[in-house]
Amino acid sequence: MRILSFGSLNIDYVYLVDHFVSKGETLSAKTLNVFIGGKGLNQSVALSRAGIVTYHAGAVGTDGQFLLDALVEAGVNTDYVRTRADVRTGNAIIQNNADGDNCIILYGGANQAIEREQIDEVFEHFTGEDYLLIQNEINNLPYIVDKAKLVGMKVILNPSPMDEKVLALPLHRIDYFILNEIEAFQILGEEHEDSFDGEQLAERLRVRFPEATIVLTMGGKGSVCLTGTECINQPIYQVQVIDTTAAGDTFTGYFLGGLLSGETLTDSMNIASKAAAIAVSRAGAMPSIPHKEEVKVFA
Ligand code: RIB
Repeated sequence: MRILSFGSLNIDYVYLVDHFVSKGETLSAKTLNVFIGGKGLNQSVALSRAGIVTYHAGAVGTDGQFLLDALVEAGVNTDYVRTRADVRTGNAIIQNNADGDNCIILYGGANQAIEREQIDEVFEHFTGEDYLLIQNEINNLPYIVDKAKLVGMKVILNPSPMDEKVLALPLHRIDYFILNEIEAFQILGEEHEDSFDGEQLAERLRVRFPEATIVLTMGGKGSVCLTGTECINQPIYQVQVIDTTAAGDTFTGYFLGGLLSGETLTDSMNIASKAAAIAVSRAGAMPSIPHKEEVKVFA
């Protein structure tokens, strides 16, 4: 069993600010750091660090070789990442405030230039034993889901960042949804409520997608996993928050890492919650993702 993580690779420009910039305002940042990121890349690294054989597929520009080097260093196979001379690597402008919260502007670049011919070539190397993991930072997602289903792969969707392209996906063909409450309300077409019940929200998703496993992450409120037979509520581990960037990606990678290594759902949720807690206690996207040994000893 292998995971094909078909997703974004970004250069993250992270600005530390007092508050998020407002309309018409010019704001001086306290620091600028350049990190390796992208939801796809982050989740591939978390999966690999969790012990799963991970193949990343996607695209970078010629300015993105260091992202591929970082993936290889993390043990991820990059044979199916294309380096394109005609586009820049995707990037993210991230404002980070003193509470560790962020605001992100994405420039898709090579992430939005994935061609069908590349997708066809990638899926020649995978079978029904394998899993596909996708987010919403690359183009041609419906085609990618079709190809995965043609070869019999299970499909895991992290519908982030949420927009109308997610709603246009064949969502009934998704086997696992890993999503936050904002994404959940939008997929259901419901108004967002501040005081919602996580279990009930996950249950409404299960009613809509009865074959799927639902993993709902709710920031400080913890997470819920719902299948046809089990419901697991997982609280968060309290840490000092430095930067929440890639916490969700770390959770996703470690949850799947646990599950696909044969851990119980309960243990997989617990491992994921520990890994995410470590990630928020550190700066940056990929640099914040812990190694498995660190997660094991985290209490
Ligand atoms: O989930 C965090 C990621 O979102 C960042 O690394 C940034 O690149 C954006 O894609």
